[in-house]
Amino acid sequence: MNELVKKINALRKEKNAVLVAHNYQRGEIQEIADYTGDSLQLARIVKDLPQEIIVVAGVYFMAETAAILSPDKKILIPRIDATCPLAEMITVEDIKMIRNKLPNHAIVTYVNSIAEIKAESDICCTSANAVNVVNNLPSEKVFFTPDRNLAQWVKKHSMKELKWWDGYCPVHRRLKREDVEKLKKKYPDAKFVAHPECNPDVLELADHVCSTSGLYPYAREVDARTIIVGTENGVLYKLKKENPDKNFIIASPLLECVNMKKITLEDIYLSLKEERYQITLPEEIRVKAFEAVEKMTQVT
Ligand code: 13P
Ligand code: SF4
Repeated sequence: MNELVKKINALRKEKNAVLVAHNYQRGEIQEIADYTGDSLQLARIVKDLPQEIIVVAGVYFMAETAAILSPDKKILIPRIDATCPLAEMITVEDIKMIRNKLPNHAIVTYVNSIAEIKAESDICCTSANAVNVVNNLPSEKVFFTPDRNLAQWVKKHSMKELKWWDGYCPVHRRLKREDVEKLKKKYPDAKFVAHPECNPDVLELADHVCSTSGLYPYAREVDARTIIVGTENGVLYKLKKENPDKNFIIASPLLECVNMKKITLEDIYLSLKEERYQITLPEEIRVKAFEAVEKMTQVT
């Protein structure tokens, strides 16, 4: 076993710490993580963990969500600069302005957002449960923030009157319809599966649209040997491991999130050793954000 992994394992044991990793993390990190998952699974998992120290290998909002849900735990992110640009596309002033202008709209905020925005929202959602979150709301009018592509995907599956903020994921935005069309021509029997953060004209071509964790059962069960993958390339690690007889093709070489890839094994070792970087939040923000995030974890 790699020397660094041995040291990480020893520290995990000594400090009663646990490592959770998002599906976009580097393969070697997913390999040693105690749990892997999408944003919703990670939020649900951390809520119930008995360990004192939780290292979140993901982007900042994921660790922050863990801190919102588990105020008594020490939540660490190995790289403080692993941020999600989408999460910063709406400000507190923006959301307050929306609340003022549209008082009869429920505000639904994608979990890819900062704690202050969650705190101003009625409920949060992830890509795995966005449609159900919106459809289960008592309000017929909904403002969705900050991702415009997920909002438009929800709109296609909802009778609600939906407005949305104009944010987007810079990584998924790079995938163009032509990229998918070319691959579909090259592999006519392939299925195309995409994340709802992709542009609407790309999603039109998809055989299946799902969160990162939705990919794994789809890949296992679908009757196709070749699968074109329209999301960040970190998902290939588990897809290939679980389906050695299938062929996975990333829909564009540009589908790599530099922020997700910042964390290395060395960073995880240092995070555990020095107990860095701890996420702390003003309690009044955390309590308000907790309500919106906790409600999110209850929706399938
Ligand atoms: P999931 O919730 O599907 O894991 O997606 C998170 C994300 O950041 C997608 O870009
Ligand atoms: Fe954020 Fe996009 Fe990276 Fe996901 S892939 S963490 S939405 S920048």
